[in-house]
Amino acid sequence: MLRDVVGTANVMTDPEVTAAYARDWTGRFRGATSAVVRPGSVEEVAGVLAACDDAGVAVVPQGGNTGLVGGSVPLHHEIVVSLLRLRELSPVDARSGQVTAQAGVTIGALQTHARASGWDYAVDLGARDSATVGGTIATNAGGVHVIRHGSTRRQLLGYEAVLADGRVLRHLDGLEKDNTGYDLASLICGSEGTLAVVTAARLRLVAHPEHVVVALLAFDAVEDALDAVGALRRSVDVLDAVELFFAPGLRLVCSTFSLREPFPEPHAAFVLVEAAGSTDPTETLAAGVQALARVADVAVAAEPERRAELWRYREAHTEAINTLGAPLKLDVTLPPDELAPFVERVGATVTAVAPGAHVWLFGHAGDGNVHVNVTGVDANDDRVTDVVLRLVAQLRGSISAEHGIGTAKRAWVHLNRSPEEISTFRAIKQALDPRGILNPNVLLPLRSEARA
Ligand code: FAD
Ligand code: MLT
Ligand code: ZN
Repeated sequence: MLRDVVGTANVMTDPEVTAAYARDWTGRFRGATSAVVRPGSVEEVAGVLAACDDAGVAVVPQGGNTGLVGGSVPLHHEIVVSLLRLRELSPVDARSGQVTAQAGVTIGALQTHARASGWDYAVDLGARDSATVGGTIATNAGGVHVIRHGSTRRQLLGYEAVLADGRVLRHLDGLEKDNTGYDLASLICGSEGTLAVVTAARLRLVAHPEHVVVALLAFDAVEDALDAVGALRRSVDVLDAVELFFAPGLRLVCSTFSLREPFPEPHAAFVLVEAAGSTDPTETLAAGVQALARVADVAVAAEPERRAELWRYREAHTEAINTLGAPLKLDVTLPPDELAPFVERVGATVTAVAPGAHVWLFGHAGDGNVHVNVTGVDANDDRVTDVVLRLVAQLRGSISAEHGIGTAKRAWVHLNRSPEEISTFRAIKQALDPRGILNPNVLLPLRSEARA
């Protein structure tokens, strides 16, 4: 039946082939599937979903499979619907600064396409060469430029998506102002494949900055680094990124990838700042850095290669940590005042329940977003997830900053969302996917999982 819709070559059932689609990037989440289906058009996506809906067969939509919360793999024997064959990009519209991209276009390909016309796509992340337009919309991905341009939802000016029963929703005109009813693009964005399969989007582009300068700042006290984040946000009006990492993570990155340490002396904490604009932002950034109270050392780069070297110390954390075995990855936001208390308390909070654990912290400090990675424990150790997410909630933070809920955090949604909100989530799901075939095992807590 599915072969009639997409052709025999695009229904893959050989376990040796499907295994790669059934395992996540970290190696923590491993499932199995009877088939991976690869539709090549919106009509084929509609045909696949209609057939699955009729048969009551659950599906997991999948893009680049770089998701970090176990939402993109078939952990309950769902069929995988891979969107990677939807790779069309419209020409960049020079008047509006917009482009239409199909779901399977990677963020890297979108950026290259936009830059060829003097524009850029604002969402940028370490997984850019695999993560897709559809996947980043489904997770409302953040990345390194949120401080300036916002998350994926802010780039979304139109959408095309297929409902569970095969009906196609399309609103791709890309009008900046359009108050004609419910904002379905915003609703589908961040719904993690539970409400519809995204097939294309109309996306906002931003000016490609002519001048970019990166500074890596070293601090001898964690508190000083966190204070610097707020101070830089106030004094430098062309900030593109404000990222944070710590001495243990830097050492791990340098030893894993045989990199030279950025500074001659060891330091406790590091803030990577990128400033960008149509005029050279070096002086503005330098003045902002000079005004900081306690910076121990600074490395500055304006040349692309040297900038990339500084970025590597931050971006390579994910890969370096993964070499230690599948980590338990949490991704949280704290209010600015609670960032320092959280950083100070989270290590002891984890080792109190898992004495052999090692806690790695890094993230997008400008957004209050900390990635808490734990190694030396079973990645499925719920006690660790529980104590960290409860600490976050106690400090009025979010248990998912940018990666989503997936299967990994669905039991803790109630820490951030009221029973009334969760029942509204369920009502929306029921309205759009009454048979519950679209990623039925992610995002919404199982009724039995409602914890105190
Ligand atoms: P997938 O992993 O394939 O899927 C993710 C979710 O979206 C799943 O629930 C899936 O079912 C659903 N989905 C996928 N495609 C569709 C579609 N077309 N329609 C409906 N649902 C769909 N994330 C950040 O936010 N910021 C970062 O800085 C960041 N950095 C990363 C760095 C690395 C090295 C890695 C490995 C991951 C990083 N991530 C980051 C996480 C990940 O890249 C994002 O979550 C990304 O949005 C996933 O895109 P994808 O195409 O790989 O989606
Ligand atoms: C990052 O900011 O590097 C990503 O979100 C990936 C991760 O959390 O490992
Ligand atoms: Zn991140």
